[in-house]
Amino acid sequence: MPEFQTSPGMRDILPPESGRWRRFVGIFSDAVTAAGYGQIIPPLLEDVGVFHRVGEATDVVTKEMYDFVDKGDRHIALRPEQTASVCRAFVQHSPATPWKVWYAGPNFRYERPQRGRFRQFDQVGIEVLGVEDPYVDIEVIALAWDFLAKLGLLQISLHLNSLGEPSDRERYMQALKDYFSNNLEHLSQASQATLTKNPLRVLDSKRPEDQQIIDGAPRISQFYSAEAKAHFDTVQVGLRELGIAFVINEKLVRGLDYYRHTTFEFVGGTMDSAQNALGGGGRYDGLVEALGGPATAGVGFAIGLDRTLLACDDEGVFLPVPDDVSVFVVDITGGRQAMLITHELRSAGISADRAYQGRSIKSQMKSADRSGAVLAIIIGSDEVDSSTAIIRPLRSDQEQYTVSRKDLLPTITKALS
Ligand code: HAM
Repeated sequence: MPEFQTSPGMRDILPPESGRWRRFVGIFSDAVTAAGYGQIIPPLLEDVGVFHRVGEATDVVTKEMYDFVDKGDRHIALRPEQTASVCRAFVQHSPATPWKVWYAGPNFRYERPQRGRFRQFDQVGIEVLGVEDPYVDIEVIALAWDFLAKLGLLQISLHLNSLGEPSDRERYMQALKDYFSNNLEHLSQASQATLTKNPLRVLDSKRPEDQQIIDGAPRISQFYSAEAKAHFDTVQVGLRELGIAFVINEKLVRGLDYYRHTTFEFVGGTMDSAQNALGGGGRYDGLVEALGGPATAGVGFAIGLDRTLLACDDEGVFLPVPDDVSVFVVDITGGRQAMLITHELRSAGISADRAYQGRSIKSQMKSADRSGAVLAIIIGSDEVDSSTAIIRPLRSDQEQYTVSRKDLLPTITKALS
């Protein structure tokens, strides 16, 4: 066992898996850029207060944050998510609205590591600030839905809920508090503790002993104001019009405290229930204000990259593919020719690799095969003397052929096209 290994819940992403991560982010960024979103790259560290605004009653903030005091005596934290950072950036830079941004990158939560749950995990996501329009909720959900479909995932269901206006939510919280307090003896110890902090969170409990009480709890839909109901109705009608299937899940309260109105989650059908949310989001109309900015509407989502790729593995879609090169240069004259030719090819935009340390032709041909290259260029002393090169197709029955050195680049370009 080596002395140093990755910390629990942290992983090295090696090739070819890392190539799959790049493609994942590439497909996502193409899709959202085409919908008018610009990229934001917030720092990994923020003042811990930024994340406290996410909600003092959530595990993400109270138990799972990687926070510390830096050398300048600042209390800072590694970001557990990026919505709060985006809102902090909005307050700091006052961009014109609607502000439509996307992001990709790692987040940190000190959770108990298990399949689909890591301490460092990546997300891709979007946020729209400054628009109350329910059509933005639909746009945001549709972008996530279409992205998951592009990966080839089929076993995904969209869970949808609305938490109503802040005052609806308050009244609902009070009703839940009263209801659960009256049934305290039937709740698990853990849920009794949760109740004192945030009665909404009790609905999240997966413990079997809590389910009967939760099933009988008041429902948020009984508390919607006319505005909240109209907003939610528009979202549902729009999703139906776009052919996006969803189920209403009134227990969907989400793990962060900043949500209002629409909330949603994409649930993977192949995953364990504790880690089956591949992504989620919703409206958080009070968050910018909580961070010291003007009253500003906000809506967005984040999709977990690690977890979504596990779902892809389960469904056998969007699998890793090796980062192959097109050409492999086999130089049996010492290596200088390979230096010149790979440089020439790479400068012309053709991916090329080579072997090192003067290996035998047999060993170099093996490397050529492993590289995935379509063509090998073979240079021996005869080829150097006659200023020629041999081109050997590696993935077809075609015979190898000789070209003059000066025709090498155009011939390779043509053969690859
Ligand atoms: P979240 O539900 O906490 O929401 O995280 C979104 C996704 O990140 C999850 O569905 C999951 O795929 C992934 N994720 C979260 N924690 C872990 C973990 N420990 N290991 C692996 N994957 C994880 C948010 O973060 C909100 N900021 C989403 C949002 C954006 N709401 C509005 N805008």
